[in-house]
Amino acid sequence: MTADSTTGFGHGKVILLGEHAVVLGQPAVAAGIRAGVRAHVSPGSGAISVPAWGLEAQVGDDSPPGQAVGRLLERLHTDGSSLDFWIEAEVPARAGLGSSAAMAVAIARAIAARTGDSDADVLAAAVAAESIFHRTPSGIDTAAASRGRLGSFDKQKGWQDLPLKAPFEVCVGLSGQSHDTGALVAGVADLCANTPVARRLVETMGDLSRAGMDALAAGDIAALARMFNMAHGLLSGVGVSSPALDNLVHIARSAGALGAKLTGAGGGGAVIAIAGEHRDEVLRRWRTKGYYGFTTTIGHD
Ligand code: MEV
Repeated sequence: MTADSTTGFGHGKVILLGEHAVVLGQPAVAAGIRAGVRAHVSPGSGAISVPAWGLEAQVGDDSPPGQAVGRLLERLHTDGSSLDFWIEAEVPARAGLGSSAAMAVAIARAIAARTGDSDADVLAAAVAAESIFHRTPSGIDTAAASRGRLGSFDKQKGWQDLPLKAPFEVCVGLSGQSHDTGALVAGVADLCANTPVARRLVETMGDLSRAGMDALAAGDIAALARMFNMAHGLLSGVGVSSPALDNLVHIARSAGALGAKLTGAGGGGAVIAIAGEHRDEVLRRWRTKGYYGFTTTIGHD
């Protein structure tokens, strides 16, 4: 890093309840996690490097990252061709953990450290970048990436921090398969447009988010875990689970987890499980079956 380099950080995220439904106007519950993406911006020639993702691009080239960073810089009135972007990623790409939103927030913050742009400008620029990756994002990933806390989100009210009685752990299991969030979101929208009962499943996902907020306020993590199980069934019902995600969920439950569900867009990506004292057993069984897992604390400092 050079003396005139600036840095910014964006959190990865897990969606506890309400993914997909949030795009269609329902509430969701999510948390920024400790792991995330750090961007270092320094004078250069528009190179974007993310070694952890094997990604090399150029601002404004035809690749999604090149286009997304180009759009972000346009929003922040910054000439990207005179800057380089070196990105350290602690979250895997396209795995349901908000990697692209974390990268967008990290870069926008590193730019704002040079230009003095406000937090609102940073968020707007990150959402604009995210729409290159995800076409019609609800905004939940960028909000969680910038807040880094537990919160509720809906498209009308935006992000609201949620109080939490005590931090709790979730196990995160990676399917190892990447996904296309935009295509999955479009698939759910099509299903709802053509099948009225699917719309009711999505509304029930919104009900689960509201019930999940009550459970969190009461510190009833066992109730939240039961909602994870119900949410996974509904998400499978609208076609966004996969054999690997179902497998991860079943392994977690049979190892003693109280609840498990896919998190994020699905179709690959990740699951989350609430396992209490069974967490090591969940991680061990996932590992035995070839899946990488780790734990993260919801309500970390
Ligand atoms: C992706 O992390 C969450 C979705 O609900 C899409 C979005 O809200 O933008 C699937």
